[in-house]
Amino acid sequence: MGIGRTIRKFLQQTGFTRYNWFDRLYLPLDRKVIRRTRNIRLIPSERFRRGGKYAYGEWAHVIGIFQTLMYLQLAKKEGNAVLDIGCGTGLLGIAAEPFVGEGGSYTGIDVMAHDIAFCRQHYRAPNYRFIHFDAANPAYAPQQSETKAPWPVDSDSVDLVTALSVWTHLREEDALFYLREVARVLRPGGKAIITFFVLDETYQRANLGGLTAKQGRFHRTTPRK
Ligand SMILES: C[S@@+](CC[C@H](N)C(=O)[O-])C[C@H]1O[C@@H](n2cnc3c(N)ncnc32)[C@H](O)[C@@H]1O
Repeated sequence: MGIGRTIRKFLQQTGFTRYNWFDRLYLPLDRKVIRRTRNIRLIPSERFRRGGKYAYGEWAHVIGIFQTLMYLQLAKKEGNAVLDIGCGTGLLGIAAEPFVGEGGSYTGIDVMAHDIAFCRQHYRAPNYRFIHFDAANPAYAPQQSETKAPWPVDSDSVDLVTALSVWTHLREEDALFYLREVARVLRPGGKAIITFFVLDETYQRANLGGLTAKQGRFHRTTPRK
């Protein structure tokens, strides 16, 4: 075997890609030149970018969208108590940072124990906390407890509940149970930003997926009929 092939094989076996090495070099440089969007310094390295989004640019883009939605929904712009269901590796925790500030709090809950472990060591602000939730999810945590349990969060204590595409992955009875949990934890006047896919007849009519195309117009995956 030639030296070139041996090196390529070695790099493949060690998980090397041009992108992950570029990311390793690029991220520290990028953090030094951020001028205006202070919170994106918290975007994790590519190994920990989850939630269906992977590229650095995609994380920054989605953070910007949700930061704007939060701004529009929140009555006070600082000191909010934010509860992020299905926090993954913390994308919405980054988007929420300006609205939490020093006087508020952010709680991320997820069924994936290793993502929660990552969040605990990556987001070190004292008012950020992460909870592993031992509940089953057919896609993410099929082995965990099937019992539906209330979130370990006080009633009437939260200004904003967020959940990015979590309800997409819930069974109907779980979806209803956790919607009641949203109502329980929100303070009067509190808001929830909950996104999910519903591929119903409205979606079909809107043709947002470009049903004849190989890939959707917005979502870079093959649309489902
Ligand atoms: C589409 S990902 C979004 C992750 C993250 N919010 C982001 O935007 O990168 C959905 C997340 O919901 C979590 N999840 C699924 N079922 C859950 C449940 N019952 N309770 C809490 N989290 C759940 C999954 O583990 C996964 O991290």
